Amino acid sequence: MSDMGPGRRSLRERLLSSGAMAPDWAFAFDAVPRGLFLPEVMWPSAEGERVVVSRTDDLEEWQRWADTDVSIVTQWDDGDHTGLERGELATSSGSMPGVVFDMLRELLVFDGAKVLEIGTGTGWCAALLSARLGETNVVSVEIDEAVAKAAREALDAAGWHPELVVGDGLLGWPDGAPYDRVLVTAGVREVPRAWIDQTRPGGVLVMPWGPIFTGQTALVRLVVNDDGTASGHFVGATRFMHVRSQRGEWPRHRDYLPDGWPADTRESTTSLTASDVLPEDDYAAVDFVLGLLVPDCVHAHGRSPRGTMTMWIYGLGDLSWAAAYFDEETPSASRVYQGGPRSLWNEVETAYRWWTEQGKPGHEQFGLTITTEGHQHPWLGEPSTLVRHIRE
Ligand SMILES: C[S@@+](CC[C@H](N)C(=O)[O-])C[C@H]1O[C@@H](n2cnc3c(N)ncnc32)[C@H](O)[C@@H]1O
Repeated sequence: MSDMGPGRRSLRERLLSSGAMAPDWAFAFDAVPRGLFLPEVMWPSAEGERVVVSRTDDLEEWQRWADTDVSIVTQWDDGDHTGLERGELATSSGSMPGVVFDMLRELLVFDGAKVLEIGTGTGWCAALLSARLGETNVVSVEIDEAVAKAAREALDAAGWHPELVVGDGLLGWPDGAPYDRVLVTAGVREVPRAWIDQTRPGGVLVMPWGPIFTGQTALVRLVVNDDGTASGHFVGATRFMHVRSQRGEWPRHRDYLPDGWPADTRESTTSLTASDVLPEDDYAAVDFVLGLLVPDCVHAHGRSPRGTMTMWIYGLGDLSWAAAYFDEETPSASRVYQGGPRSLWNEVETAYRWWTEQGKPGHEQFGLTITTEGHQHPWLGEPSTLVRHIRE
């Protein structure tokens, strides 16, 4: 630790004092400087905005960001985008150190545990796992060839040689199975059975999981049972880029309402307010819970031309839609418009009322079971209390 710069030293202290980094991971932090895994040009997150930093132009600034507890985008648009401007979609990154160590802590590793990582990204995490568990116990899978190549070069230069695989991590890596631990560093909406099948009974999987309704995910820790199921609690909210095939296509408004309000639009009112269902906090439990109960839809919000906060909900797979115009002057009677086979607003309102009746439980009170057939069953409190989808 003696040759650590002040920025890295202070990050270390922060991670330890916040409890994100368990003491048994401090040695790995010391052995693996994050800066060795970050590219020449990168886009750290500064108060929600992405700024661009170049090592050649400003080494000090570049190093300051490398030692800061923020996520850093390292690739846009699956590599199609080049240049210094930000691209459309962040497709690879160095995850926030606090989140990386949260995940490593939740993984509950033991000396000599064999780990499969999905989403090599920069390679920093694979190096941390190698430092903690030995490089022969680490396999990491990355879908993007260029990202994997850069990670391999960085790992080689830093002196770590875990097994790196270029391929679709949703298939796991059967050649290295069975694993004691699986760490997924990209968000998933569907947990592939392959990951569970390749893990020993009693083994642990940690991943960011979230329904399509929201960009938010929650970290879940699943333990593999003897009967081949896997189950466990969520351990807190997070936000992650999703695995490639589960990003989800954003629907086009004009496909739902090509000519304004259709003649069969159903009108009603609601007493829910914008702050009930559109929290300012990106990590609020309500967003996650609505997604657990109301499947196969996404939502957006904005202000109408008259300045009214509006929530739009679009069904996926059918053309159901709903719009709630939150009336700040008469909040008990905001107007709702719905169309298509599902009444999506009614589903959201029923879900919200259910959550309120349960005492507004947070992420940690929910859990997830994956059955032997690969079905996903979220639950509240204990695995037998299933959270069921609402369909109206
Ligand atoms: C947030 S980054 C991973 C951060 C990384 N663990 C680190 O330490 O820097 C997510 C990575 O997952 C990769 N990815 C996306 N879908 C994937 C898939 N199906 N299989 C393997 N990797 C995938 C992305 O290309 C991206 O590099």
